[in-house]
Amino acid sequence: MILKAENVRKAFEQVGPDGNPEKLEILKGVSLTVDKPETVAIMGRSGCGKSTFISLLAGLDAPSSGEIEILSKKLAQFSDRDLNAFRARHIGIVFQQFHLLDHLTAFENVRLPLDLNRVADPDARAREMLEKVGLGHRADHFPDTMSRGECQRVAIARVLVMRPEILLADEPTGSLDVKTGRDVIDLIFKLAETEKLALVMATHDPKVAERCGRLLYMDSGVLGTERPAAFG
Ligand SMILES: Nc1ncnc2c1ncn2[C@@H]1O[C@H](COP(=O)(O)OP(=O)(O)OP(=O)(O)O)[C@@H](O)[C@H]1O
Ligand SMILES: [Mg+2]
Repeated sequence: MILKAENVRKAFEQVGPDGNPEKLEILKGVSLTVDKPETVAIMGRSGCGKSTFISLLAGLDAPSSGEIEILSKKLAQFSDRDLNAFRARHIGIVFQQFHLLDHLTAFENVRLPLDLNRVADPDARAREMLEKVGLGHRADHFPDTMSRGECQRVAIARVLVMRPEILLADEPTGSLDVKTGRDVIDLIFKLAETEKLALVMATHDPKVAERCGRLLYMDSGVLGTERPAAFG
């Protein structure tokens, strides 16, 4: 088993119109099992909870109830420190924003997780990964001298250099133009195959979603295969 979410609920506290706290129930019993390297798309209207669910899968936030298991380990059982260490090795996350460190070169950005996690042979691994995303020739360039598409490639290399089993992507092309976005998506699918990743991706792009092995819709707080009637 690679990833399992079981009856996951998530509610946020909000200040209501009368000034009193009110509970905002976003996820109302979401379940998902991925037990082999495969690609899963999650679609759904804005605000339905896709990013919320992705952050729970990554262990960046905890569910109000229900359980997340990654590689047969319950995330709730980890201490913060152990969870961070586990995430670093097994879960890659790509966002709409690149979150690169501006004062580091492309190569140094990619090498950073290897250094932080004391992985052997960081230079060779970082160089190899940069080449896999087609940026071997830009190794010494800083993010502000690179295009947005190139920055997203560096971000992908930085995430995959740790050789995670799982790649979570939250609208990875959301800040790219159509052509650049398509190239980045091609790269993500290629790497999902060569690196044998389980890919779970939230997207608003039906063309991207259709390329995934499974297409799920988030609607009314649950995840299902049925396309919601009121959906685009
Ligand atoms: N920390 C938080 N506190 C309060 N409300 C939150 C918090 N995080 C998310 N929400 C609310 O939860 C709902 C779901 O947000 P989420 O970002 O998961 O939606 P989404 O499906 O990713 O939307 P989009 O397609 O626009 O990215 C929204 O109404 C949002 O305002
Ligand atoms: Mg979102």
